[in-house]
Amino acid sequence: MTLQVKQVHKHFVGEASGVDLSKPLDAGTIKAVNDAMDKYAVLVFRDQPLTQTQQLELAKSFGPLDMGLKKLKKQPDRLEHAELADISNVADAGGTVARDSRKIVSNIANQLWHSDSSFQQPAARYSMLAAVQVPSSGGDTEFADLRAAYDALPDETKQEIEGLEAEHYALHSRFLLGDTEYTDEQKAALPPVWWPLVRTHPGSGRKLLFAGIHARAIKGWTVAEGRMLLMDLLEHATQPEFVYIHKWRPNDLVIWDNRSTLHRGRRFDLSQPRELRRATTLDVDGREQAAA
Ligand code: OGA
Ligand code: MN
Repeated sequence: MTLQVKQVHKHFVGEASGVDLSKPLDAGTIKAVNDAMDKYAVLVFRDQPLTQTQQLELAKSFGPLDMGLKKLKKQPDRLEHAELADISNVADAGGTVARDSRKIVSNIANQLWHSDSSFQQPAARYSMLAAVQVPSSGGDTEFADLRAAYDALPDETKQEIEGLEAEHYALHSRFLLGDTEYTDEQKAALPPVWWPLVRTHPGSGRKLLFAGIHARAIKGWTVAEGRMLLMDLLEHATQPEFVYIHKWRPNDLVIWDNRSTLHRGRRFDLSQPRELRRATTLDVDGREQAAA
């Protein structure tokens, strides 16, 4: 079997089949997935039960792995591999964690539109999220197409934002949520970085609007004016027309390209377990695109 993809949204997102992700992928399949990612930006694979090790091996075949916020060492690891992110409200001893647990802040920060690890260089390229358990309602994940969002900007806005640079900071979203208890050491571990607001995706050659909640300032602008522009652009990019809503089933594996999409989780009943696991690759080539 070879990779087959059916587009499920006007602008992006493919439902993929024909590949068993639990087995090592050959070079041809890896290329086919990369080509499909360049085109669809999000690929949804159904019915792919993966062990933690299989998920990690899958991610490794697409590049070096990203550790993201794990640098802060805020939570002990529940999973078998340090490189896997525990995207869940599940307690170490089973059951769900308390509402005021730090783990819930991470869950909720994921409910703000973002591109994984855009607060570091290199940032994330592919995120691969596997569903283990899902709540009976809510807890969808939404994706926004930043290429379609760029294309739809008025020419005047395109000209205004060309060449602008945005500062991305890991703790900006946490501060917004009232989570401010970080040591100087933790703050120093994740210094802010700059990215152009308009970027060109190397695989597709398409321009895109690199917005998201980690962006907190525009170079050379006042904080207030910069933040307002960033909020306007984020609102533009996340209009329903550019958004795909993923309704999770256990054993789904969704891969998204953090260079060309934003995503966010949606609210759900925190007393119900929602358990996903993420492996993420680093966008090592994207460093050259970083703003100085
Ligand atoms: C992530 C993330 C959103 C969700 O895993 O990077 O943002 O719906 N997840 O859990
Ligand atoms: Mn995320």
